[in-house]
Amino acid sequence: MQVFEQKDIFRQSLLSWYHHEKREMPWRKTKNPYYIWVSEVMLQQTRVETVIPYYERFIRAYPTMEELANAEEEELLKMWEGLGYYSRARNLQAGVREVLEKYGGEVPATRKEISTLKGVGPYTAGAVLSIAYGVPEHAVDGNVMRVLSRILLIEDDIALPKTRKVFEGVVMDLIDQEDPSSFNQALMELGATICIPRPRCLLCPVRDFCAAFQEGRQEELPVKSKKTKTQIIPLTAFALQNENGEWLLRKRPEKGLLANMWEFPMIENEDGLKPADLLQKSMSLDAGELKGLLSFKHIFSHITWEVESYQGRIRLSGSAPEGYQFFSAEEVQQLPKAKPVIKIWEAIQGG
Ligand code: ADE
Repeated sequence: MQVFEQKDIFRQSLLSWYHHEKREMPWRKTKNPYYIWVSEVMLQQTRVETVIPYYERFIRAYPTMEELANAEEEELLKMWEGLGYYSRARNLQAGVREVLEKYGGEVPATRKEISTLKGVGPYTAGAVLSIAYGVPEHAVDGNVMRVLSRILLIEDDIALPKTRKVFEGVVMDLIDQEDPSSFNQALMELGATICIPRPRCLLCPVRDFCAAFQEGRQEELPVKSKKTKTQIIPLTAFALQNENGEWLLRKRPEKGLLANMWEFPMIENEDGLKPADLLQKSMSLDAGELKGLLSFKHIFSHITWEVESYQGRIRLSGSAPEGYQFFSAEEVQQLPKAKPVIKIWEAIQGG
């Protein structure tokens, strides 16, 4: 069956499956546009199971847009700690402030207006409009492109920005006018549970409409050109205590990767120096014995850190080195830290 000839049956099959099989999610119990917005921002690049506890804590801490608008950056980053892509949190706060200042506290209900808000791209705009307001607007993310590329056998390269427009057009043609919220979420749900990279077609409610399945080509889709290889950066991290048992950390610069998050000294080791020599050379610190902790990789979207971590004590008469501060263990616990730093910190606490 071709979808375009059978749109009504396609929608019915998709929606009926969704109504029976949808997973419970806290943001599926609300139509508050601010809450939907928070959930959609958190769900970008992050799995549902990971997001749920963060979402619940966030809404408890900032139940209204006013409360989020007034939050301190450090507290906000702490709330987002571990979710990654921390600029999402800052952009969300900036967007919420714009709603309060320019839109009298009402999240705009048109694509044109909502798209002017900080951090609100075409996907988030469509998700909030359709889910919170029932506006028939497209919300196309990677999962939705995978689903539709198979159903309609669309072979455009989804790594190209212009391809998203193709899928947006398809959704606008297919979307259910009565229940765009369920329609969009059904596509997302299908992409998350059944139409996954190695699809489980035997469970698919719209298999009969799927052009790729009919040709046995579902695993070839979507077409996605290889992105250029991520840059690998070898880093040595030093968890160092002074003679009072305090830990040495710095706040990362306010722009760029992990902006304003706290970290132990992390030093690029280009010359393959021994850890103690690296510390001496780059920070003029003498740590005596260094105890090896973890070695691990952390993959960001475009770079990979290969981290080796060490723990030691420094004898330091004066204050902390330029840009660094000492903190008690309790204080370190409270600082917003990126995943790799948390990992090292947990290793220290655990043994
Ligand atoms: N992924 C992004 N938005 C979602 C939603 N509303 N429900 C389920 N998964 C999602």
